[in-house]
Amino acid sequence: MTAPLLSPDVEYDTVKTIADVALENDAKYIIFSTLPSIHELSGGKYTKVTLFDIKAKAEQYIRGLPIQSAFCSLGSFMENFESASFLTPRKEEDGTWVVALHVSPNIQWPLVNAVGDTGKFVGAILAEPARFEGKTLCGATKLYSLGEMISIMSKATGKNITYKRISTEEFKKRMKLPDVLVDMFMEMLAFLDDTGYFGSDSEKLVAWAVNNARGKLTTFEEYLEAHPLRLE
Ligand SMILES: NC(=O)c1ccc[n+]([C@@H]2O[C@H](COP(=O)([O-])OP(=O)(O)OC[C@H]3O[C@@H](n4cnc5c(N)ncnc54)[C@H](OP(=O)(O)O)[C@@H]3O)[C@@H](O)[C@H]2O)c1
Repeated sequence: MTAPLLSPDVEYDTVKTIADVALENDAKYIIFSTLPSIHELSGGKYTKVTLFDIKAKAEQYIRGLPIQSAFCSLGSFMENFESASFLTPRKEEDGTWVVALHVSPNIQWPLVNAVGDTGKFVGAILAEPARFEGKTLCGATKLYSLGEMISIMSKATGKNITYKRISTEEFKKRMKLPDVLVDMFMEMLAFLDDTGYFGSDSEKLVAWAVNNARGKLTTFEEYLEAHPLRLE
């Protein structure tokens, strides 16, 4: 797994260097933590989700090397809720708790307990490297709709959390992040809304990875029980 630095070129060069050194040192197999190319899956419509696209480009580099490889493409981390991500409920001035985005509440998110469950996907590859050669496990417990996630957070916290659909402008204002990151999140959400995190086959791809995972995967309910959301 590589660190997404603000410069995508640096992340790509890091992967390339690691893969080249692995090859020079006679490594037999590379397992790379990849992500889908939103640029390609959207037919070129979205160009700013470099966080994803750069991993897909690095995956292509590894696939072109004379070494066996397999890939794990992880869904959105349940751990994100521990930091103040845009999915974390916020208290409005009137005292109500809301998740406010500019997209449909039916939007689907593949959620994964990254710390607890990544090894269950990677372990499947390690156990049967020949079977998984060239394959990608789209690692997530399942696809949750935004509405479902909000209802699970309400139950877990005992707070009435609601969804508020806001304008794009309002979303940008609330993000309080550098423009390059805001633009990236805007395009990522738009892609989730019109296609799906792993593309139009997201549901099938996640189901295949779940069937092959070694061990039971953490549900969002279980995750929040073990890592309570602190809404203050
Ligand atoms: N978050 C998601 O939903 C998600 C979904 C799919 C894939 N991913 C991928 O998963 C990886 C981790 O994402 P994240 O969201 O957990 O990122 P993150 O919160 O920014 O965490 C990155 C971690 O990597 C460490 N790190 C950064 N540069 C490093 C270096 N040069 N050497 C050693 N450690 C370094 C950081 O350490 P410090 O805290 O000390 O800086 C931090 O602990 C990324 O490759 C990301 O693209 C994330």
